[in-house]
Amino acid sequence: MTEHLPSPQAGGLPDKHQVAASFSRAAASYDGVAELQRLIGSQLLARVSADLQPSRWLDLGCGTGHFSRLLAKRFPPAEGIALDIAEGMLQHALPLGGATRFIAGDAERLPLRATSCGLIFSSLAVQWCADFAAVLSEARRVLQPGGMFAFASLCVGTLQELRDSWQAVDGMVHVNRFRHFEDYQALCDASGLQLVSLERHAEVLHFPDVRSLTHELKALGAHNLNPGRPGGLTGRARILALIEAYERFRQPQGLPATYQVVYGVLRREE
Ligand SMILES: C[S@@+](CC[C@H](N)C(=O)[O-])C[C@H]1O[C@@H](n2cnc3c(N)ncnc32)[C@H](O)[C@@H]1O
Repeated sequence: MTEHLPSPQAGGLPDKHQVAASFSRAAASYDGVAELQRLIGSQLLARVSADLQPSRWLDLGCGTGHFSRLLAKRFPPAEGIALDIAEGMLQHALPLGGATRFIAGDAERLPLRATSCGLIFSSLAVQWCADFAAVLSEARRVLQPGGMFAFASLCVGTLQELRDSWQAVDGMVHVNRFRHFEDYQALCDASGLQLVSLERHAEVLHFPDVRSLTHELKALGAHNLNPGRPGGLTGRARILALIEAYERFRQPQGLPATYQVVYGVLRREE
């Protein structure tokens, strides 16, 4: 069952409707290129306390539902909720099972009752939320006492090579903006939830050329959606200039693309 909810307010950057549309379009291609996303989600799952036994879990920003299916295996017979802002992702996830309910909704305004979940798991979704304080406040509201919010996200430094290369070409914003790690820290500290752990790890992917990287970002639905991004066609001369600028970063393994990953675990006090 997919439950449709009213469109979320466009209350931040990038625009939520664009984020939803972009991920909906990417639903069919996402799994084929989501190797790093699998690794990060698995590392997040490993951070969920072994002694936690939720009777209901929420996969927040579930995407194609890979981690919903792992949560269902790990926590039987708990009820599972897979929630995402992109209807296309939910339609892709629904026939693959895992969760009991599939809900279209926004992490900043959860369409769920207070104290209804024992675990909120969210891998690589909240970097799309302009208001992370609202996400934390919603997590606190929805968690049961003793419940856990485990999230993985991205911070400043992510895709820095691509950002710097575009900067050298035209000085414009071509890469999504990310929060500073210190902002995650401050917001978690102020959330009213107990901070169990907050860490940052760099992961570096290598690509044979710039085109492979930009194709992968598009297949993930994660290409640049910020206002201020350049519109219109990207001219051949600018692409060649980008390729040349990115070559400065080349390593023996290929062109590096750095992801600065944040892992956070918070608990609502008993
Ligand atoms: C990179 S995918 C990650 C999907 C999945 N968690 C995984 O690890 O494979 C990010 C997902 O977050 C969803 N998302 C983005 N903003 C959201 C929001 N405000 N509320 C709920 N989901 C959101 C996107 O639609 C997308 O499916």
